[in-house]
Amino acid sequence: MAKDLKPVDDSIQARLLRMQEDLKNGLVSAKAFNDPEIYAIELRKIFARCWVFIGHVSEIPNPGDYYVRRIGEDPFIFVRGEDNEIRVLFNSCRHRGSVICRTDAGNTSHFRCPYHAWTYKNDGSLIGVPSRQAGYQELDMSQWNLFRAPRVETYCGMVFANLDPDAPTFSDYLGAFKWYLDIQFNLTDAGVEVIGEPHRWWVEADWKSGAENFCGDSAHTQMTHRSLLQIGLADKAGAGSPGQEAHGLHINECDGHAISIRWYNPGIENFWGYPKEIYSEFRPGPLSEPQFDLARRAVVHDGTVFPNFSFIHFAAKEDLDKPAAGFLSVRVWQPRGPGQMEIWNWILAPKEASDEYKERAYRAGMSSFSPSGHFEQDDVTVWSGIARSASSVYAELNNVKFNYQMGMPGMAPAVPLADWPGPGTAWASNAGESGLRTFHRRWAQQMCSS
Ligand code: FES
Ligand SMILES: [Fe+2]
Repeated sequence: MAKDLKPVDDSIQARLLRMQEDLKNGLVSAKAFNDPEIYAIELRKIFARCWVFIGHVSEIPNPGDYYVRRIGEDPFIFVRGEDNEIRVLFNSCRHRGSVICRTDAGNTSHFRCPYHAWTYKNDGSLIGVPSRQAGYQELDMSQWNLFRAPRVETYCGMVFANLDPDAPTFSDYLGAFKWYLDIQFNLTDAGVEVIGEPHRWWVEADWKSGAENFCGDSAHTQMTHRSLLQIGLADKAGAGSPGQEAHGLHINECDGHAISIRWYNPGIENFWGYPKEIYSEFRPGPLSEPQFDLARRAVVHDGTVFPNFSFIHFAAKEDLDKPAAGFLSVRVWQPRGPGQMEIWNWILAPKEASDEYKERAYRAGMSSFSPSGHFEQDDVTVWSGIARSASSVYAELNNVKFNYQMGMPGMAPAVPLADWPGPGTAWASNAGESGLRTFHRRWAQQMCSS
């Protein structure tokens, strides 16, 4: 280092504070997308403190049904007990730590450890310890139940958990963003249910690339998914093509969560492309008229609940000769190491829909957003490129920052909609990355928290 240069405080805390500062100019450090030190902090300050999606109640309808899921990288068992209560149990034996449940899914009344056979009921209580008389006469078994996530809450059938016992309620955490989630999940009395098993697959990309994209990266559709538009597999109205009667909206500053919407002009009824026999069952119910109007005119809604739960609601074609079918996909961008993630994807449809329609919705979802989905494959290709750039020596030596300035004040006439009836700040434009900036501000705030 030259003598006249001041040493830079390069502690991780100082770097994070500089990243927070850079965001004011719409810049995000490449390091955020692939760095072991940053990743370790994400697991502790984000995934151990924020509400994360575990699963949907319709996946475990019967006592004893279970799935193994993760919070951060930690394994948990999502299980319905004999008492019908849903719990999220830490998948680690209280004896000496062996993983208790080694199958991904099933139905069981008990979990027995494969090491020394300590046995737990499906509510996590320890009920069997071999050689008890010979080796553990004084053992107070009530003190050795499986650990569990201290906070579990259900919203519209979706189960979220939080490892922080002092976290705000899920409702407070969602805040005003609930207004937008209700439009997706609360349209019928019975709500939505999961169709089939979730898809999951490994991608060499950072979890934030998926989460930020679903906050409203409308600008990529015309490029990344251009071939789908050209051959007619994607609806031009949903892609922001010029000359359509559909328009884009970005809503951000909504308690750290964000949504992107394309909707038709007033008077056009679309309901995300569901057929009439499905959407005629939608009722305003608990929704306000502005909420229901958003549903009525909806082409596509996609959003992210910080940190890694996203949804997309729209219609896709299974192939060119078949009509598009509406469906709802929810997904988790599961961190699996620096620059690595596992994507989990559930396809849902209104519970009242016929089995035939659910099959159509599943096939539409699978052909667009799944490991073999045409949209998905386009997206993950570019996201893995970001993770590679982020880990490059060049990016490190040159302190490379990525540009998130689209639509910022100074870059565009950034005037929010004055009469927007919903919460958050709404921008009537496709040409903006405001939702992505919302996500990264929330990320930086969480990472810099004490
Ligand atoms: S580690 Fe589970 S019984 Fe010993
Ligand atoms: Fe995409």
